[in-house]
Amino acid sequence: MNLLEEIKALRATVNELKDAPSEGVESFRIAYLGRKGRMKELYAQLKDVPNELKKEVGQSLNELKSLIDHRITEWSASATVQDDVSKEDLTRPGTAIGGGTMHPISLAKNEIVDIFQRIGFTLSEGPEIEDDWHNFSALNFPPEHPARDMQDTFFVDSESALRTHTSSVQVRVMESSEPPIRTISPGRVFRNEAISARSHCIFHQVEGLYIDKGVSFADLKQTLLYFAKELLGEQTDIRLRPSYFPFTEPSAEVDVYWGLETETDYRITKGTGWLEIMGCGMVDPAVLSNCNIDPEIYSGFAFGMGIERIAMLKYQVPDIRMFFENDKRFLKQFKGL
Ligand code: PHE
Repeated sequence: MNLLEEIKALRATVNELKDAPSEGVESFRIAYLGRKGRMKELYAQLKDVPNELKKEVGQSLNELKSLIDHRITEWSASATVQDDVSKEDLTRPGTAIGGGTMHPISLAKNEIVDIFQRIGFTLSEGPEIEDDWHNFSALNFPPEHPARDMQDTFFVDSESALRTHTSSVQVRVMESSEPPIRTISPGRVFRNEAISARSHCIFHQVEGLYIDKGVSFADLKQTLLYFAKELLGEQTDIRLRPSYFPFTEPSAEVDVYWGLETETDYRITKGTGWLEIMGCGMVDPAVLSNCNIDPEIYSGFAFGMGIERIAMLKYQVPDIRMFFENDKRFLKQFKGL
């Protein structure tokens, strides 16, 4: 058989191979196109072909080569779909499933909760739709009291409203348990406020309550100093400014020293270096009585903070609305925290 006939015979054979050869596409490729493959042999023989036939033989060799290439591409494309499991390489890395991230509010909440749990505070939760008693009256906001305006309320009906703070949970804990009580209540709260970069009508709080015999303002201050140092670092300092809440007496606002190093520090602390992070105070004796705890025997402190505020500080988030937009470009920056 001369070279030309051999090439034609091979073309006919490859042409008839509609399905991938049983020895596998890769072995076929090596047998024909490999360094010691059939094509190499045939091309080598080209030099012995008489000059007047060289063109024809060369062309038909090239056609054979493209046909083989074409078949291999075809088989490989359908193989990825059809490969049965027994032939698959099970040690190959799997398809990556994109992992989610913790929401920054959850991250901040978990951190705050952890800090208080380390010193013996328990966790308590309660309903988001509250009655007037638990959200207001038990906390010393009498009906028509102007202090109710401090927290503009979303009413559900004449009896219930969306809670404006998680102090409502603390009323429930006091009603249902005996001192000593040491608990924190994280949760979502609602206020009828205009939405801006600094405030939102939905946000999250962690409030804390400690009631026992002989609890003093010094205990409150020490607990909050411990908290601030754990949260923001050992060098952190706090100061308490007198304030007013209906359910605590005396009441204070807690500031942390944030510094004045950068222009942003100037702006967010209004040039003082101090930044308000929470409200606190000694539980008003009237609130203890409302919850069946004898104020002659027991005293306690309470505090409450907004989680968004803390998360904005910790992660340098300039706009509170970002926490609610679920924009993946924002959320994925918290990966691995
Ligand atoms: N409940 C208050 C608020 O939501 C915060 C607070 C809690 C203040 C406990 C003092 C004591 O603003």
